Order: sequence, then C-alpha cells, then structure tokens
Amino acid sequence: MLKQGLFICAVLVLTMPGIFSCVNNKKDMVTTESLGTFEGKDVFLYTLTNKKGDVIRITNYGASIVEINVPDRDGQKTNVTFGYDDLDSYIKGDPYFGKVVGQYANRIAKGRFSLDGVEYTLAINNEPNTLHGGPTGWHSRAWDPEVLKNTDYPAVKFTYHKPDMEEGYPGNVVAEVVYTWTDDNEIIMDYKVTTDRNTVINITNHAYFNLHGSGQGDILDHEILIRASAFTPVDSTLIPTGELRSVEGTPFDFRTPHLTGERIGDEYDQLKLGRGYDHNFILDNIEEVDAEVYDPSTGRVLQVITDQPGVQFYTGNFLDGTQTGRGGKVYAYRSGLCLETQHFPDSPNQPGFPSVLLTPEEPFLSSTIYRFSVR
Ligand code: GAL
Repeated sequence: MLKQGLFICAVLVLTMPGIFSCVNNKKDMVTTESLGTFEGKDVFLYTLTNKKGDVIRITNYGASIVEINVPDRDGQKTNVTFGYDDLDSYIKGDPYFGKVVGQYANRIAKGRFSLDGVEYTLAINNEPNTLHGGPTGWHSRAWDPEVLKNTDYPAVKFTYHKPDMEEGYPGNVVAEVVYTWTDDNEIIMDYKVTTDRNTVINITNHAYFNLHGSGQGDILDHEILIRASAFTPVDSTLIPTGELRSVEGTPFDFRTPHLTGERIGDEYDQLKLGRGYDHNFILDNIEEVDAEVYDPSTGRVLQVITDQPGVQFYTGNFLDGTQTGRGGKVYAYRSGLCLETQHFPDSPNQPGFPSVLLTPEEPFLSSTIYRFSVR
C-alpha cells in the first residue's frame, strides 16, 4: 500500500510538476499550486492534509495561513480563519490576515528606539507609531519555501532573508518559520531568527479566527479563556503606558472563561482606549494551554500554546466589512479575533518589559501551537 501510494505520488509529481509534491507517507500530503509571482519570486499555495483528512492551506507570501478547515461537533467542516482567494487580493487587501509579522510585531512608539547608543528611526505607518514591522515588513514579502521531507506530519518551511536596515531595523536577519499540521489538528509554528549584529525581534502569526466559520457572524458569542493575571494598559495610540495591571476585578480577567461580548462594552478606561479588546496579556505560562476559544454553537475549540511571554487579544475592532475573502466571505466589524503570541508591544522603549534583544550569539527560538478540537 505504502509503495502504491508513493508510486501515485511520483506519477503526479512527474506529470504535473509545480502542482504536486509529496512527503514521506501516502496519507500525509502536501500539494503545491502556483499563485503567481511577487517581486520576482514564485508564490505558492500549499495544501497540508493530515491523517484525519483535515486540511490547512498556507502560502509563502507573508508566510501566511490562508485556510483552516476543521469539523464542528457534528463533523461539519468549515474554514475558521481569514484569507483571500488570490495573490492580488493578498497584495492589495488587509495586510495581516494569517501573516507572520516581523521584524517587530505590534507597535513601536513614534517609530523610534535606541540600541547600543544608536537611535533608529522607523516608518510611521500607524500614526503616530510604527505597526507590525512597517509598511514593507515581513508580512509583505515572498518568503523562500521548502516542503519538508521525512517529517512525521505534513510540514513546510518558509525563510526570509532581511537585509541590514530594511524597514530601519539593524542586522542581516534570517527568519524561519516551519508550519507543521499534526494528526491532532494542531498547527505548530516553530520560529528561528538569527542576526549578524544586535537588533530587536518580536515575531507573531496574525491569524483571525471565527469558530462559526469565517464570514459567519461576529465573535462576541465566543467564550475566551486567557491564563494571564496581568495585562499592559495602553494610551490612546495603543502604546503601553509601562504599567503592568492586575486583571483582578476587571473586564480583562479571562482566567475563567467569559464570552467576548460579555464585558466589551463596559465603562472601563482600557476598553474605551482599545476600542474593545486590543491588548497584550501577560501570560502566567504555568499550564500547558495559555488561551482557549470555545464556540458553544458549533462546539469548536481553539487552544493556543506558546513559550512567548504575552498574547495580544484583539477583537477585530478595525474590521469594517470592506474586505471580501475566500469564497466571497465579508469580514465585518468584530467578525474575527486574534490571539497573537508575542513579546510586549513597544518593548524596545520600555525598560520594565522582558528584553527583545537579538544578538549574533544566540538565535531567537520559539514555538506556538494552534490546536483545534470540539466539545
Ligand atoms: C493587531 C493590533 C491592532 C490592529 C491589527 C491590524 O495586532 O493589535 O491594533 O492594528 O493588528 O489591523
């Protein structure tokens, strides 16, 4: 059987190169199709199918997650993340759907930071701050793709070589992300980042989730658990004030599950300043699962597991229905939520936050898992 499978795989690769490729096991499969070219680089859509027959799709443009098809409690599969159908929409549409964001995810105040006595100036793309690595950050690049062979599960590696001073960040930086799609419906994201001189790093995946199915209503009825005892309050430009505030007694206490919409309209300073939830939660990092989303209506569960110190819980407050994604789905106000595992926003300017220094001596290594199930 295994030989037969490998034979069929080989025939597909030989007859339709560029469309099909295979990994080691006949059931664990990665197929490849062309989406076009961007800045002279080929862009591909990869379909990863696990032994359950469940499928995710990713692309090397922005090292993005494009589609996640997972069953509800009755076995009905649907796509629960935001993405586009074609490369042109990725280039012209919302810059962050499913993307890997770097070199510095989230905001840097007024586009400035100092390192080793030198002041660095960044592009201001979110007045008055820099957001998500600047206008041509890693989300907007075609990464070099490689379908990994001899892995336990379908896996694809994307690599981006960032030249020194691109978007104002020092260092020739090499960023790698490996996406692995396990038979337990986990997307494992393994990051490795190296540099040839001191710089700053904050990398995340910016997938939006709606566990009803993307484009199907809002996420206010999703139940959220975040194992965080404190969060970082922000000013009106969404820059942390430096305070580490306990969640105790606030609408930011998700240590026991609450619906997203339950307290989002409360008269609480940070909900006003954030236009909803758009804040970095300081993870306790004690239990395996750091955050969980549950949709009571479909039974779908998303668990987020990370080694990062924070997670940005963002309730899609800037979505406005102007974006139409895969299958003609419209992404309305608060129709998706993000759990962006990361270091704290603006850390290069905040001496009280964990360090985001990346040196040539020690690579940045990190893993985050999105695990899907039902109950
Ligand atoms: C989030 C950020 C939001 C918004 C969004 C992109 O990471 O916290 O404020 O900028 O990205 O629209």
